[in-house]
Amino acid sequence: MTSAFQQCIDPQCGATYAIDDVRVACQRCGNLLDVAYAWDKLPVPRSLTDFEPKWARRNDPHCFSGVWRFHDLLPFAPLPQCVTIGEGQTLLLGSEGVARYIGLTPGRLHLQYEGMNPSGSFKDNGMSAAFSHARLVGANRAACASTGNTSASLALYCSATRLMRAVIFIGSGKIAYGKLSQALDYGALTLQITGDFDDAMARVQEVCRQEGIYLVNSLNPFRLEGQKTIMFRVLEGLGWQVPDWIVVPGGNLGNSSAFGKAFHELYELGLIDRMPRLAVINAAGANTLYQLVEKRGLRWNGGRPQMEIARRWYDEMDAHNRRASTIASAIEINRPVNLTKCLRALEWCNGVVREVTDQEMLDAKAQVGANGLGCEPASAASVAGAKRLLDEGVIGPDDRVVCILTGHQLKDPTATVAYHSGDQAKFNEVLGSRGIHTAPFANHAIPVPNDLDQIINAIKTHH
Ligand code: F0G
Repeated sequence: MTSAFQQCIDPQCGATYAIDDVRVACQRCGNLLDVAYAWDKLPVPRSLTDFEPKWARRNDPHCFSGVWRFHDLLPFAPLPQCVTIGEGQTLLLGSEGVARYIGLTPGRLHLQYEGMNPSGSFKDNGMSAAFSHARLVGANRAACASTGNTSASLALYCSATRLMRAVIFIGSGKIAYGKLSQALDYGALTLQITGDFDDAMARVQEVCRQEGIYLVNSLNPFRLEGQKTIMFRVLEGLGWQVPDWIVVPGGNLGNSSAFGKAFHELYELGLIDRMPRLAVINAAGANTLYQLVEKRGLRWNGGRPQMEIARRWYDEMDAHNRRASTIASAIEINRPVNLTKCLRALEWCNGVVREVTDQEMLDAKAQVGANGLGCEPASAASVAGAKRLLDEGVIGPDDRVVCILTGHQLKDPTATVAYHSGDQAKFNEVLGSRGIHTAPFANHAIPVPNDLDQIINAIKTHH
């Protein structure tokens, strides 16, 4: 066995597979796989500050990349083979305005803005890693099911690198326009499957198995290796200090799983001295994790989760024909594929799960926008969730909190424009059915006749 391998996450099974094996589940027991490392055979950094010299070498693409400058912490492929298109040039920004909105002491809130990635979402972190593995195994076609961002990222990496051709599965009518436009523009073969994300997710796995196409959904453990680096950059932005809380939206639960693994590994390697707490935030209309963890007590339980609880919940959902429905289409997911890994992350990080309404998300999103960053509705779940946890007293006002803004504001202009619309009919058309009836932070456009006096008058009245 070389220094990097794949391993079943079930500690009772623990089956291992070679690094160039292409699979997304354990052959023996069907559980998810991790990428694992024999750290004692690898050059592990002595301190996280060892990464700092890379900042001075931005003309080297692997130092410029916000993923590959941390290669020592995800060394599954030789660095020269690792694929980069400049992902991970992200910001960790303090936000006093958003801190005030959620009730946190100014200076204690940081927003990790993943919208700055080449395709406009955090997915590029994972895609660069999945493409590096795909290159290692010589794949020439890749597929994913997506609520939009994974597909945009896959399509971009295909068009930018020409390493593979993309096949994208999306649920019909379930994808925000910004994301659809990316997949089309980057030239991906785009299949709109009748049904929703979960239908597309089930199908893409069948198709990949049958046709030998490389799957890049976050079931692919290499994706999550790339997404660990979001946390490395958070630490970098905080001068290598561990925050008290990481707050992240939860959809298919790839990010939360990756974040847990990142901190667990850093802790085991002695590179951090404590673990942050993790808060995973569901949309109330797509709240499987919240239901299972907070309402039904499902836990990782040291590797023996009572999956019967999840099966019963899924049966109940099917019996009542309950399908995920939220304005945050990115996280409109019924059956998160990384559920067990996320349970493990929650255990490692003493985590909590909350749900937030579409109204709470859009209000939080408007606050993010009014305070200098723009995000899509799903991303604002992190801010809305942090607000809830502060209201409940779970997060203290002086805690240091990092909310992950997962995707760019321009991904979903429809939701944004509707929220700010002064036209009640337009507002209701997009948002009314979502239970959103007010827009306390709306910034209406003012209709003005093409007349100089009236224009000047409008400016005077409204400024
Ligand atoms: N935020 C955004 C903007 C997303 O696009 C997603 C997932 C999430 C949060 C949830 O992250 O799945 O790691 O829990 N989007 C996937 C997609 C499902 O297909 O683009 P997660």
